[in-house]
Amino acid sequence: MTASNVLRRIDTPRGPVDVVADPDVLAHAAADRFVAAIAAAVNARGRAFVALSGGSTPKRMGKLLASPAFREQVAWDRLDLFWGDERWVPLDSPESNAGEALRDFIGRTPIPLERVHPFPTDLDTPEDAAAAYEATIRAAFGMPEGIPRFDLILLGMGDDGHTASLFPHTKALAVRDRLATANFVPKLDADRLTLTYPVFDAGREVLFLISGAGKADTLRQVVQGPDDPERLPSQAIRPESGSLLWLADRPAAADLDR
Ligand code: 6PG
Repeated sequence: MTASNVLRRIDTPRGPVDVVADPDVLAHAAADRFVAAIAAAVNARGRAFVALSGGSTPKRMGKLLASPAFREQVAWDRLDLFWGDERWVPLDSPESNAGEALRDFIGRTPIPLERVHPFPTDLDTPEDAAAAYEATIRAAFGMPEGIPRFDLILLGMGDDGHTASLFPHTKALAVRDRLATANFVPKLDADRLTLTYPVFDAGREVLFLISGAGKADTLRQVVQGPDDPERLPSQAIRPESGSLLWLADRPAAADLDR
């Protein structure tokens, strides 16, 4: 991201918030981070591992990444793409995070499809899918044990403070012995699949994308309010040795104390 895109940086107890003008600049800044993170990873280790999020903001980023100007800057043959979370729906559903990304963006890039790793929502149960996803991640990283380090993890934040499919007061918040887990979300009456805190906290670069006035009050509570991670799961994302950045557009950042 070029410094000129950032209107101001607000330092908070939970990491810096970079404020940009609007959703288009946000998407552009995110696409720039995507390109830079992959280049740095390929340079350092020969490969890059990215976890995408669902939600609306990454869709705009994806459209940009599929455009010629960005597409040519990415070493697609060195990249493995995963998702931070998924809904318990088939890949061809409009509700599917991976399905939508494949249709909108990934299908328009030269990434080899065997390096694109959606949660396998065609298995019998969400628990089976989470276990299979953990195995897929371990195989791609060549790590039968330990916590793999994604080079870039993109996250959104819901207006209830959830991130990925770590929803307030749900069981997945306490899962620390697995990379991925099923998470039934009572208020949605729906099953979700999500990576767990240890994976997010091991990320080399964790980037939240937050857009719109509807997020302003929650963003203030999450980054500047008292600790309450059971109610505001986004608060508990704390990369251990990686970086954490909140990228917010002006309406989303409107309630922050400067
Ligand atoms: C999902 C997402 C979720 C999302 C937030 C924010 O599958 O719903 O992964 O965690 O990122 O709800 O979504 P928006 O960016 O669309 O507000």
